[in-house]
Amino acid sequence: MRVLGIETSCDETAAAVVEDGVRVLSNVVAGQEALHAPYGGVVPEVAGRAHEAAVVPAIERALRDAGTGLGDLDGIAVTNRPGLVGSLLVGVQAAKSLALATGLPLVGVNHVLAHAHANLLGGADLRFPLVALVVSGGPTSLYLCRSPLEEELLGATVDDAAGEAFDKVAALLDLGFPGGPALDRASRDGDPAAVRFPRTRGAPGTLDFSFSGLKTAVLYHVRGQDARPGRGRNRPGVAVADVAASFQEALVDSLVKVTLEAARRARVRQVVLGGGVACNRRLRERMAADGARAGVQVVLPEPRLCTDNGAMIAALGTHLLRIGRRDGLDLDVAPRLLRRPSVKKGPARRAAAARP
Ligand code: KG4
Repeated sequence: MRVLGIETSCDETAAAVVEDGVRVLSNVVAGQEALHAPYGGVVPEVAGRAHEAAVVPAIERALRDAGTGLGDLDGIAVTNRPGLVGSLLVGVQAAKSLALATGLPLVGVNHVLAHAHANLLGGADLRFPLVALVVSGGPTSLYLCRSPLEEELLGATVDDAAGEAFDKVAALLDLGFPGGPALDRASRDGDPAAVRFPRTRGAPGTLDFSFSGLKTAVLYHVRGQDARPGRGRNRPGVAVADVAASFQEALVDSLVKVTLEAARRARVRQVVLGGGVACNRRLRERMAADGARAGVQVVLPEPRLCTDNGAMIAALGTHLLRIGRRDGLDLDVAPRLLRRPSVKKGPARRAAAARP
C-alpha cells in the first residue's frame, strides 16, 4: 500500500511516499529557515506564502524520487491539525485537489501523533503498550500508546513547549535561528554544571511539564534580576557555552524524569521519542542512559525523521486508511488540539486546557 504524505503545518513544506506504513520511498523537505531568520521566529504569513510556492514541486519531487505515479498510490494523507492555519490550509488544499482529480481516498492526520509514528519507519521493534514523548516547537506531550491507533494523553506542557524554550533561550544568547540546533552546538563547549538552573515541571502529582520558569531563570542570570523579556543587554562576561549547556541540562533533566516516571506509572518497558527536540544530542544520550538504568528501552527516530516530514504523516495515514478512516473534500484544519479535561481545576489549569 503506497501513501503520499503531505505536511505544511509550520515552516517546512514536506511530501513523502511510504510503502505499507514502514518503508520510506521518498522524503522531500523544503525548509524556510532563511525566510524567517531575519525575524528571529516563524512569521505565519511568510510561511503560508512559501508553502504555496513550494507544495506542488515538493509533491512532484516526492513522486519522482519514489519512482511512483499518482496512479500507483493507494491514498493521500495530510496534516490538518495542529499548526498555523494559513500553512495547514495550503497542504490540505493541495491534498484535496489531488484527491478530487484522482479519486484516491483522503485522510487528515494529527501532526503530533504522527511524530510518534516516525518510529514505525525504519523498522524499530515497537512493543505496545509504550509511552511516547513528542517534543517540538509547538507541543511537548506524553502519550500512553496501547496500539498504533490508541493513545491517551498523559501529560503536556502547561506553558512553553520545549522547542520554544530552546528557541527563546538561543535568541537571548544571540545564537541565531533556528535556536534549538544552534544551542545544542554551543552547549558542546560548555559545562552543564556551571549554573544550577531550576528543574521545573507541572503541578505535583501530574505528568505535566513547565518551562517558562526555567526560561525566566536564564533571563535573570544573563541580564540581571530586573531584566524584562525583549529588553536590555546581556551582562558582560556571561559564558554563553556554559549557560547553554546548563539550561539544556536542566530542561533535559525535567523531560527525562517525567517521561520515565510516566513509563513507571504505566508499567511499560518501552519509550519512543519524536519531534524536532528529539534531535538534541544531550536528550538522546540522557534518555538512553537513564532509560537503561530504569530497565526501559528508549527508541529514537533518526534525526531527519524527528523534525517535520511527510513520511510520518504517510505512516500514520496508512494505519488510518487501513481501518477505513476517510475524510471528505470538506476536510477542515484546526490550529489547536483540545486537551483532556483537567485533573485539577484552577486558573493555570484552565488556561492550559485551552492550549494545544
Ligand atoms: O518538530 P519540529 O520540526 O516542528 C514542530 O512541529 O514544531 O520541531 C522544531 C523545533 C524547534 O523549536 C527547534 O529549535 C527544535 O525543534 N530543535 C532542537 C534541535 N533540533 C531542532 N532543539 C534542541 N536541539 C536540537 N538539536
